[in-house]
Amino acid sequence: MTDTPRKILVTSALPYANGPIHLGHLVEYIQTDIWVRFQKLRGHQCHYVCADDTHGTPIMLRAEKEGITPEQLIARVWAEHKADFDGFLVEFDNYYSTNTPETRHYADDIYTKLKAAGLIEVRAIEQYFDPVKEMFLPDRFIKGECPKCHTKDQYGDSCEACGTTYSPTDLINPYSAVSGATPIRKQSDHHFFKLGACADFLRGWIKPPQVQAESANKLAEWLDAGLSDWDISRDAPYFGFEIPGAPGKYYYVWLDAPIGYMGSFRNYCDRNGLDFDAFWDKQKAAQAGTELYHFIGKDILYFHALFWPAELESAGYRTPTGVFAHGFLTVNGTKMSKSRGTFITASSFLQHLNPEWLRYYFAAKLGNGVDDIDLNLEDFVARVNSDLIGKYVNIAARTASFIGKRFDGRLGTHDDSTNLESEITSAAGTIAEAYEQREYGKAVREIMRLADLANQYVDGNKPWELAKDPANDTRLHAICTTTLQVFRDLSIYLKPILPKVVAQVEQFLGTGALSWADIDTRLPAGHSVNAYSHLMTRIDAKQIDALIAANTQSMAPTPDSHSQVRHAEHQQHETQPTMDPIAETISIDDFAKVDLRVARIAAAAYVEGADKLLQLTLDLGGETRNVFAGIRSAYDPNDLVGRLTVMVANLAPRKMKFGLSEGMVLAAGPGGKELFILSPDDGAQPGMRIK
Ligand code: MSP
Ligand code: ZN
Repeated sequence: MTDTPRKILVTSALPYANGPIHLGHLVEYIQTDIWVRFQKLRGHQCHYVCADDTHGTPIMLRAEKEGITPEQLIARVWAEHKADFDGFLVEFDNYYSTNTPETRHYADDIYTKLKAAGLIEVRAIEQYFDPVKEMFLPDRFIKGECPKCHTKDQYGDSCEACGTTYSPTDLINPYSAVSGATPIRKQSDHHFFKLGACADFLRGWIKPPQVQAESANKLAEWLDAGLSDWDISRDAPYFGFEIPGAPGKYYYVWLDAPIGYMGSFRNYCDRNGLDFDAFWDKQKAAQAGTELYHFIGKDILYFHALFWPAELESAGYRTPTGVFAHGFLTVNGTKMSKSRGTFITASSFLQHLNPEWLRYYFAAKLGNGVDDIDLNLEDFVARVNSDLIGKYVNIAARTASFIGKRFDGRLGTHDDSTNLESEITSAAGTIAEAYEQREYGKAVREIMRLADLANQYVDGNKPWELAKDPANDTRLHAICTTTLQVFRDLSIYLKPILPKVVAQVEQFLGTGALSWADIDTRLPAGHSVNAYSHLMTRIDAKQIDALIAANTQSMAPTPDSHSQVRHAEHQQHETQPTMDPIAETISIDDFAKVDLRVARIAAAAYVEGADKLLQLTLDLGGETRNVFAGIRSAYDPNDLVGRLTVMVANLAPRKMKFGLSEGMVLAAGPGGKELFILSPDDGAQPGMRIK
């Protein structure tokens, strides 16, 4: 590299500490990691930081449900997330947490500066409050009937049936998804950031290259519609940072989350003697010419391209050089779904498949726009096998053994009768530009075109034929040498995507760590290489089947991705085979006596004084039933509401201490957390008989 090294700070969005990393998340972390590795390979100074996003109501409630402190929960999830990222070779320079002194410091600093600039306003607002749980309810924790289409059990921000968005106060018969209680309206003081005052600054800022062209249009629409003040506080009980001088008021999670980028980088700087201010102070960053890039999903553009630059600018910090949004992952053309087994967690993928297969496939599919990307599982198998094994790895596999066996592991002079080597090296500029522009799909297409050329070269020269006659040794040696040279060059091009395979290649070729600048060097005659061992295996379609089976859950709802406050993920349960012996045979008539029905859980609540029971209101598509079910140890009421399940509808009613139980819900498992209620496949309707 002749140009002076750039100084770049890169972030990926901070994943919430309330659920596992899944393949959707990995689009982002893999996309960012490839870019960072590319910059480092080019000899630039590039720092990649991230953290768990640990604050908010869902994390507080989830910890409570698990009977642990939020700190215990976030420590456990941090370790899980870190292991997943390591597994996928996502190499952060620092993976931190937002619940840290550094993040608190910058949150207080920014808040205080905004306040001094007259940009914070306190005013009372009226919100829904859960009188049983004694807490204000985020929109996502209020459910009720859609005011437009009257579908029951919709969230407080939008209707999943008709798509209407509204505020929770518009819901008909609202109830708390936490306790099931009817929420009351209550006033409280909230702190607002006056975003509207930053409109002029933002109007000038939301343009390429700071944001992509597609994002610029969207952002301009938002700006034209008028920016409302942003509510940045939440009332206790809350897990987060208390606002200085405002007892009982906490920063809303989205206030401190992006500040977590600063917190993580600060922690990294302190441990490595780096100058934080050169990257964040407005003047110093301009002098030092440092760059700051945020990789994010399109769902969080508003936060990163409006709130965040407005906050930074108003508090005297530098603003991002670029905010790069990507689209969402679909699997086989549709939203990831737990019932279809396509809501695939990172850890289960690692148990069944090679992470570099996914890195390659995502790279092949990624451009620099905000289009969604699809993981088509059949295409995934075909593409990885044909490109990585059939084209790339094959180049080495076809020639390495001759060098080892015939030439004592030493390279010879290069084949000067072909221009293959120069064809490969002359593509370096195009490929580098594609990486720089985040057009990985383009880079991959170009690299595979070159791999085809290399294979054609081998095909045309038939080293296995030449090897039959020692008189051809000089020619054979030259062909194998050029082939391995070309293989090395392709490995450099692929290194950002396939760091582990390329590390094996470096070992095999005895080159040491390859960098982009090595494209300009030739492996000399006499250079020794090590014994070749196979670099990568093919994907077997059976591995995909096993992966899908491992991720198929009949009980959990599909996670939604559209909301800003997302509800806690369902806990994953390991399935254990049952050891119960099969009961004695019954006739079909015996079975027919049991009237099993599909039922919708219309409401679910804890039962005062009963530590095993949940009270369920089951909707049978016309009538409702009150049922007490002994599933409290395994389910939180708010995870059940709205779900379909199966009930015995003709069981004699039973009078219990708490009321009349009019039926029975079916569940499997030994008990405790290991209890699993049933759920019918998509399309089943309440009231349908199971026969
Ligand atoms: N905690 C916030 C981000 C705070 S950043 C200061 C958050 N967390 S998240 O866990 O929900 O998502 C983390 C990142 O993963 C986001 O950029 C999000 O867009 C991305 N993705 C989550 N699901 C995704 C897909 N299904 N597909 C692609 N990206 C997805 O948002
Ligand atoms: Zn509706």
